[in-house]
Amino acid sequence: MSDVLEIHDLTVAYDKKPVLWNVDFDIPGGKMVGIIGPNGAGKSTLIKSIMGLIEPDGGHVKIFDKDVEEVRDRIAYVPQRETVDWDFPASVMDVALMGLYNNKRWFQRYTKADKKIAEECLDKVGMLSFAKRQISQLSGGQQQRVFLARALARNADFYLMDEPFAGVDASTETSILQLLESMRDDGKTLLIVHHDLQTANRYFDWFVLLNRRLIACGPREEVFTEEKIQETYGARISLIEELSQQLGQKKLPTREY
Ligand SMILES: Nc1ncnc2c1ncn2[C@@H]1O[C@H](COP(=O)(O)OP(=O)(O)OP(=O)(O)O)[C@@H](O)[C@H]1O
Ligand SMILES: [Mg+2]
Repeated sequence: MSDVLEIHDLTVAYDKKPVLWNVDFDIPGGKMVGIIGPNGAGKSTLIKSIMGLIEPDGGHVKIFDKDVEEVRDRIAYVPQRETVDWDFPASVMDVALMGLYNNKRWFQRYTKADKKIAEECLDKVGMLSFAKRQISQLSGGQQQRVFLARALARNADFYLMDEPFAGVDASTETSILQLLESMRDDGKTLLIVHHDLQTANRYFDWFVLLNRRLIACGPREEVFTEEKIQETYGARISLIEELSQQLGQKKLPTREY
């Protein structure tokens, strides 16, 4: 299968401070890919840049060989839980239904068939019995499952998930994992930020090791090695020092308006 995602020389900065530096890798289709790296490594920034939510300072992203705007209806995104405003007034069912529409069609009415799909997706994550509950009145793990249902309802080809297992209990984690594996077996591509190194080896068949720069990307056997993981987590401080040194020498590429 050809590459689903191509990232070329991606540099992203907040207030001129680089968070991602010259990140360059490709992801083939039909894989369950784990993005691994310490806190602050730029994992969420990477996912948001791929989604086109952050404008890069350099480089480019191609999904299915196209710009993200052209393929948005083939992509689903589950944001990191802490970054979502959970106080907005919407029921569990409303949130699942949101998956069925692009924003521009958001005002349109839902059909019976739409509701059935949303129900099926809520059922898959074990949240159907909460359909009428306000999203703000759920526990953290329950909210996470509803956002997963929203992503499922999109019936996308490429799923980006930022720590979907954070805060869910062990049995939910197992059932979500099975769901994701069956999606992968159907030919979908999943790019998943994951924190737990113990389970990562079991969950993913492809890895992106990230710490501001790309440490490695490739199949598990080649990339998920002690040496490379050490490099990803252990070299953190020296890496940041090196980065600021580079910054002193080289001007950050700026955008042209
Ligand atoms: N909106 C922002 N403005 C300024 N700095 C930011 C912003 N968002 C993130 N950062 C900084 O960019 C760096 C990378 O953040 P990011 O959220 O991508 O890391 P992460 O790898 O997802 O971390 P975690 O494992 O904690 O979720 C961090 O140092 C963070 O403080
Ligand atoms: Mg993050």
